[in-house]
Amino acid sequence: MRLTALFVLLTALAAVPSAQSVPPPAPAAPVPGPAPFLQVFKERRSVRNFRPDAVPREHLLQILDIARTAPTSGNQQPWKFLVIQDRSRLDALAAATVEAYTARYQESKKPTAQELAAFQDKYRQVCARYLSAPVFIIVLTDSKSKYPDYNKWDGPMAAGYLMVAARALGYGTVFCTDSFPFDVVQRVFDIPERYEVVCTTPLGVPVEWPAAPPKKALDDLVAWERLAE
Ligand SMILES: Cc1cc2nc3c(=O)[nH]c(=O)nc-3n(C[C@H](O)[C@H](O)[C@H](O)COP(=O)(O)O)c2cc1C
Repeated sequence: MRLTALFVLLTALAAVPSAQSVPPPAPAAPVPGPAPFLQVFKERRSVRNFRPDAVPREHLLQILDIARTAPTSGNQQPWKFLVIQDRSRLDALAAATVEAYTARYQESKKPTAQELAAFQDKYRQVCARYLSAPVFIIVLTDSKSKYPDYNKWDGPMAAGYLMVAARALGYGTVFCTDSFPFDVVQRVFDIPERYEVVCTTPLGVPVEWPAAPPKKALDDLVAWERLAE
């Protein structure tokens, strides 16, 4: 072995620390990304009162683009997302919703004229708060999809993705079923019969983020290996 090669070898060996001199491993750096990502899920809230601030189209497109990536049976993707921003059409929805609820109220309660007026007034205000958002989205599934029996699972998957994506960009939503009766929605927006409403949701900047409602503890919901009665 030539002298220089021996020198290089000895220097390299000297550089290898003995077991005792090995420094303790540095504390693991926090992994960037996942924590804030998971936080978005926890911070999503059902929002029922909105500021009039516009939602930029690119944000809307980003949100809808995430919704369309949701899991779907056999990758059938049976969704349609009907986006309504025309204020006069939203007013028509509010009027038709109040009318439908008034009819139900009249049938079930036989109210006095005064009670009826108070009910209508209250319901108008409720509708106005939901529809204070500049955007209203109707999540639909197509009954002519490849596996229509599975639409009932695919639909809410997309709606859930949409709602979490909206939260990530700072927008509130609320998964509405009863608030706007589906038959009314279908009629007011002239939706072809083949499409079934999964839910509707206003989308906009919340007046405020509501506090989280009580949620069940993880222990009450998770069973490990076996589920007792
Ligand atoms: C299947 C389903 C139907 C719902 N229907 C309505 C509705 O018609 N109107 C409404 O204001 N909220 C509705 N919600 C929203 C729930 O009230 C809300 O998710 C729940 O109170 C928990 O609050 P959080 O979403 O802020 O965690 C619905 C949610 C689901 C999943």
